[in-house]
Amino acid sequence: MATVMLDMPATETTDMPKSSSTRTPVALDVDRIVLTGFMGSGKSTIGALLAERLGWRFLDLDNEIERRDGRTVAGIFAESGEPHFRKLEAAALATLLGRRRIVLALGGGAPEELGNRLLLEQTPRTAVVYLAAPFEALVDRCLKQPDAAERPVLADLTAAERRFKTRRRIYERIAGHSVETTNLSVEQTAATVLERLAG
Ligand code: S3P
Repeated sequence: MATVMLDMPATETTDMPKSSSTRTPVALDVDRIVLTGFMGSGKSTIGALLAERLGWRFLDLDNEIERRDGRTVAGIFAESGEPHFRKLEAAALATLLGRRRIVLALGGGAPEELGNRLLLEQTPRTAVVYLAAPFEALVDRCLKQPDAAERPVLADLTAAERRFKTRRRIYERIAGHSVETTNLSVEQTAATVLERLAG
């Protein structure tokens, strides 16, 4: 079981000095946290922060696919096509879900595959968290990132929005918790995820 120190909400601490009394140790009753959401939802940034807080390992599904295949995600899409990428993604997910004390950031399309959804559902002690934001905010965040041109799914924004609309319902369905991130900083989002999992 992981123990994490949670900051109490600001409303309960307004006139209290920042001391040990404002941080509460909380036990999380899961072995892994899986972050899902569309591109730009902050899965990797928030995931790394959560892992640091928990003293767990952070894993990124796209990075694992690239490490195993030796090509970038964009390279795999361009040379072998999306269906092949999805096969590599499913295989990498099955392996990584065997590990404990991890925070895993999924690629935005991973939950679209039924097999991946079943695997997530059937892996015990696994908390799936959806990081939600409106499409426009997500695209905006992605385009500001240095690797914007490397995201094959963003090449056609109309098609990307269609994918977003379909996936939004899937993310909501597979996640035990949904966190609306639009008005939250990275730290606030990570704290909210931990609060939800501790509650
Ligand atoms: C994809 C999202 C990407 C990556 C690939 C396909 C998608 O991951 O897996 O480019 O279908 O939405 P991120 O969500 O981490 O950008």
